Amino acid sequence: MSFTWPDGFPRIPDEDWVREPLGALAMKYDSVEEHGWYDNLDPSVDRLEEALKDGDILLDYSGGTGILPDRLLQRIGDRDVGILIVDSSPKFLRLALEKLGDDPRMSFRLIRYLKPERRLQLIEEVVEPALLDRGVDVLASTNAIHLYYDLADTLASWARALRPGGLVHVQSGNILNPHAPEGAWIIDETVEHLHRRAVEIVRTDDTWAAYRPDLDDHERMAQYDALREKYFLPVRPMEYYVDALNAAGLSVREVACRPIEARNEEWLGFLAAYHEGVLGWVGGVAKIDGAPAGDAAIRDRLALMKAALSDVLGPRGTFSAAWSYVTAERAHARDV
Ligand SMILES: C[S@@+](CC[C@H](N)C(=O)[O-])C[C@H]1O[C@@H](n2cnc3c(N)ncnc32)[C@H](O)[C@@H]1O
Repeated sequence: MSFTWPDGFPRIPDEDWVREPLGALAMKYDSVEEHGWYDNLDPSVDRLEEALKDGDILLDYSGGTGILPDRLLQRIGDRDVGILIVDSSPKFLRLALEKLGDDPRMSFRLIRYLKPERRLQLIEEVVEPALLDRGVDVLASTNAIHLYYDLADTLASWARALRPGGLVHVQSGNILNPHAPEGAWIIDETVEHLHRRAVEIVRTDDTWAAYRPDLDDHERMAQYDALREKYFLPVRPMEYYVDALNAAGLSVREVACRPIEARNEEWLGFLAAYHEGVLGWVGGVAKIDGAPAGDAAIRDRLALMKAALSDVLGPRGTFSAAWSYVTAERAHARDV
């Protein structure tokens, strides 16, 4: 392995986040690596393995804790590709650095939130011209595009970072896809169903009678609806993303959908890390009620999540989720 990054492009920037200790939430997120539903990355690894040649650079936008590069490097062995992870979370990126920083093929950049402008930095604001002038060959975004609140600006910055003819690979389990197999879940939609089932359980099962009066405080419940939508954004149709990619000069070449098997227990374990967003109204959260839930209320919240999710997903122990995969290509200069 002798991958050479361009002169004037340090692999690891000299920034504070690099020296921070590892964070618990990032480690918790990274444990999804062990979950069956993270097989959603397999079709992405297949496509990237096929697309990347020796000497190429992959930009993993929203690369998080580095699960995709980790799997890709295992798949491609000694192939001499450079992988640049760009992410908005210093804690996730710190963990990616811990896991992959020793590999000379890896580099890392943090995009920060600019408060006065109310936006995230663009790629060209954190990646040196030495690399941008060369352009990246492939850009991937996995399990993240549904989170982008300024999608058009983000996609335009992808197009600028790619070399002409460069490829984009996007995938997410939170896109409404007309090709979705019948009965397959959009993964985050399980949360709304869980909440509704939890409301029914509290109304009808006396075990939860203490939380029943909360349900009639409509103003407060509306605040928790809004909080849930902040954690788990409303799902958009595939058309919205295809149109946005095409409008950014990234011509969509392939749209596919695959069923991904998820174990109920693993999905519950993942949601448990975000219990305030899922069922915050059980016991309350500081932002809305002025004080966080006590230990007993959190135990109730988690138990109610378990009961409601099990009712929603049924007795099989696993459920099928519909994952969407999109490949696009940046136009060659003469086509623009
Ligand atoms: C669910 S994780 C996926 C991480 C990784 N790509 C994977 O598949 O494991 C979503 C990632 O998107 C990043 N992210 C969240 N909002 C973002 C935004 N508005 N723009 C860019 N990245 C964002 C988060 O920091 C996080 O690392």
